[in-house]
Amino acid sequence: MNINQLLEGARAVRLHAHAPYSGFKVGAALETPNGTIITGCNVENATYGLTICAERVAIVKAISEGQTSFSRIAIVADTDALTPPCGACRQILWEFAGDIEIVLANLTEVKATYRLAQLLPLPFDGRLFGKS
Ligand code: THU
Repeated sequence: MNINQLLEGARAVRLHAHAPYSGFKVGAALETPNGTIITGCNVENATYGLTICAERVAIVKAISEGQTSFSRIAIVADTDALTPPCGACRQILWEFAGDIEIVLANLTEVKATYRLAQLLPLPFDGRLFGKS
């Protein structure tokens, strides 16, 4: 798939973000090996702590739709600086997507591309205690 399709998905879903507290809207788009795109936006809550990031929304949507294999995720925010995934999202991404490619972009351009293992070295993993 052309990366622009994935970025389009992330940019479009970002507009659905529920971010009245931070004002910071994020969109994420996961790609499966067969070209399916599953998107997610951040969903905030008045309690603040119950806020869910865009990346985790995308993963939870994907898993509940029966998707189990992922090749890339695009993450979009309206910033000039990088918006890398938070620590909790890195761990959740590792659980379901392993060493996935991570494309960080804003509304107009890709700012950087990483593998998750670069952002989450020495991850905690179920395989460490015999679960996969
Ligand atoms: N946020 C995301 O959705 N993804 C990230 O990678 C960073 C942070 C959200 C959470 C919260 O709604 C807002 O951005 C400000 O932290």
